Amino acid sequence: MDEEIRIIDTGDGSQSLYNPFLRETYHSTHGALTESQHVFIQMGLAYLLEKEVKELSVLEVGLGTGLNALLSVLYAREHSQISLDYHTLEPFPLSDRIISELKYPAMLNYDHALKDFELIHTVAWGETTHFTDNFSFTRYIKKVENLDLDNEFNMVFYDAFAPSKQAEVWEKSVFGTVYDHMSDNGVLVTYCAKGQFKRDLSDLGFFVETLDGPPGKKEMVRATKLPLV
Ligand SMILES: C[S@@+](CC[C@H](N)C(=O)[O-])C[C@H]1O[C@@H](n2cnc3c(N)ncnc32)[C@H](O)[C@@H]1O
Repeated sequence: MDEEIRIIDTGDGSQSLYNPFLRETYHSTHGALTESQHVFIQMGLAYLLEKEVKELSVLEVGLGTGLNALLSVLYAREHSQISLDYHTLEPFPLSDRIISELKYPAMLNYDHALKDFELIHTVAWGETTHFTDNFSFTRYIKKVENLDLDNEFNMVFYDAFAPSKQAEVWEKSVFGTVYDHMSDNGVLVTYCAKGQFKRDLSDLGFFVETLDGPPGKKEMVRATKLPLV
């Protein structure tokens, strides 16, 4: 599928990909790194740590380039007080050629960046690998519509393509399944802030916050699974 997918530069100098079939980029064209750091790391991981949650179990929808995963390993390396168990879905893995041309390890430039990035894209599908004492990683060739894991996640990175490009992954029923895979007070973060999407989340039992988006995007969403009373 990815024969035609090509690397692009985004506004903050970091790379992303363009998918010509969907006419869609993998990240904000204003800045891939800035978006990932803001939406998923700051509003997601750092928010849970502020709440004193130290055992994080993350589900990512759409591994793609592995940028969110790499930033999460780095976050775990920088916060030894947490443990992070990262699970990620990707039904359409990128080719080795594209992966090898991504410069995220050099961009992040920390000691184990290259090794971590290689592991993200080479570990066996469906098998858990421990990168560090406090970071484990499992990737699945799976669509979110077919989510059927035994885990209970307290953090969801919802990073699918936009609703205008891939409506089926923004169906309310899909978020019902995601909800069932989350613990009480678990948090979902996404760059999307569409009205119908937010109403669907509220209907399902999420407390929905509309937050400032990364530069170039007005808003994003953080949704917390409310405990049943
Ligand atoms: C916006 S890109 C994700 C970017 C990724 N998190 C990154 O940092 O590169 C969306 C990703 O979702 C994947 N995807 C497409 N259909 C999907 C589905 N039904 N379930 C889960 N992921 C899907 C795409 O292949 C793509 O890698």
